[in-house]
Amino acid sequence: IPVDPFDIVIFGGTGDLSRRKLLPALFHRWLDGQIPENSAIVGTARSDLDDKAYRAMARDACEKATGENWDDKEWKKFEKLIHYVSIDATSAKADWPTLKSKLTMDGERACVFYLATAPSLYVAICNALGREGLAEGNTRVVLEKPIGTDLESARAINDGVGAVFSERQVFRIDHYLGKETVQNLMVLRFGNILFEPLWSRNYIDHVQITVAEDLGLEGRADYYDRSGALRDMVQNHMLQLLCLTAMEPPNQLEDDDVRTEKIKVLNALMPIHGEAAKKQTVRGQYKAGMKGGEAVRGYADELSGEDKSDTETFVAIKAGIDNWRWAGVPFYLRTGKRMSHRHSDIVIQFKKTPHSLFGEGNDMANRLVIRLQPDEGVRLFVQIKEPGPGGLRVKSMPLNLSYAESFTVRYPDAYERLLMDVVRGNLSLFMRKDEVEAAWAWVDSLIEAWEQAGDAPEPYPAGSDGPLAAAMLMDRDDRAWWEGL
Ligand code: BG6
Repeated sequence: IPVDPFDIVIFGGTGDLSRRKLLPALFHRWLDGQIPENSAIVGTARSDLDDKAYRAMARDACEKATGENWDDKEWKKFEKLIHYVSIDATSAKADWPTLKSKLTMDGERACVFYLATAPSLYVAICNALGREGLAEGNTRVVLEKPIGTDLESARAINDGVGAVFSERQVFRIDHYLGKETVQNLMVLRFGNILFEPLWSRNYIDHVQITVAEDLGLEGRADYYDRSGALRDMVQNHMLQLLCLTAMEPPNQLEDDDVRTEKIKVLNALMPIHGEAAKKQTVRGQYKAGMKGGEAVRGYADELSGEDKSDTETFVAIKAGIDNWRWAGVPFYLRTGKRMSHRHSDIVIQFKKTPHSLFGEGNDMANRLVIRLQPDEGVRLFVQIKEPGPGGLRVKSMPLNLSYAESFTVRYPDAYERLLMDVVRGNLSLFMRKDEVEAAWAWVDSLIEAWEQAGDAPEPYPAGSDGPLAAAMLMDRDDRAWWEGL
């Protein structure tokens, strides 16, 4: 269903996010007939470009993202929507009249301001939008992560933005919530009678959430070295996955019903302080190693001009949720760069059957593996009798639902759905102010514990499954990571 005509202004319109994600997402929505032709897409940045040059840049970006499905005829129609205004939004001399001349601003038509800039500019840009009367009417602002680097800075951004835009106008993006398989998590949990009765400490032994990447720094050293895996991945994506796995069934899918349930989980996360951090967490950093048969550099060598950094590129955490449903059930979280292969999985490990009929050594426990990416799918491991004569041998085999085998449709990129949700004004897949702050509060206690301990991250070879200490974290509990094979 097409949305109503809208205007979108992208601050940071020439940046990496715009080129890799936002412009291609808008083009794909156009190809799917969702964007009316009297909408406007206005890229802004400081560079001195005109519409023609910006359209050429956008074309290049969209062609790369579209690959063999490139449609030149459609592009020629789509590019007419695109404009460029050179603006330094934080400068007193910024050319607001030209920007305004591209927008309808009739109070009814949606106007989206997408801040794809450094977070340090969010408040200044919002202040300028407020001063220029651009925060009124049917306007909304989109904030990319990271919202701050700790609770205090996140609050400063939230309060600064909140002084100009009301909370219902603020869309804080976590692109993991736009992923097909992440949305499927809710359908799987709440669209099947099978799982919910078992979904608690009564039947679940533990939960594992892994987001493993095989990529390294990809030219983002400046940002990443100040951030690290905990701030870059855990504070947002991983905690969101944890919330969706652990939350209570919401009353409905409207904005605040889901968000309220997620916040309850964040508030129940047990803080990890002091000595506990040594036992419950592992920080790692990749050294030189191999990727796909080729030698790759270590993290420190990828940093230009730096010879030493204590930033973690891997983190593993044993977390606990202090509530009725999850008391005593560990949630093991793990994420890292330059790991052996890219896989994101949520593993629900059920408890063993209370009594074994089939002899020792047989693992009588079910396991549900939700593969978020790549090879999206769901596998439920069940015990079956291995066919053949010669005794009763039990084997754990998956009931396998592969997206690729079951569906032939293209999966829209997360940004496609999220951008259209912003235009529609649907807030349910976006972070509320208190949600971001609750996540930071938990992460802050960990950072503080790490800083007090002052330990360097454990090295692991690029192309491995992380530091040995991460395997030990599980081993101590008589458990093992699911390596997604
Ligand atoms: C981003 C992080 O938010 O998510 C990156 O900043 C990370 O470091 C990326 O690579 C992972 O996203 P995806 O969609 O590729 O899993």
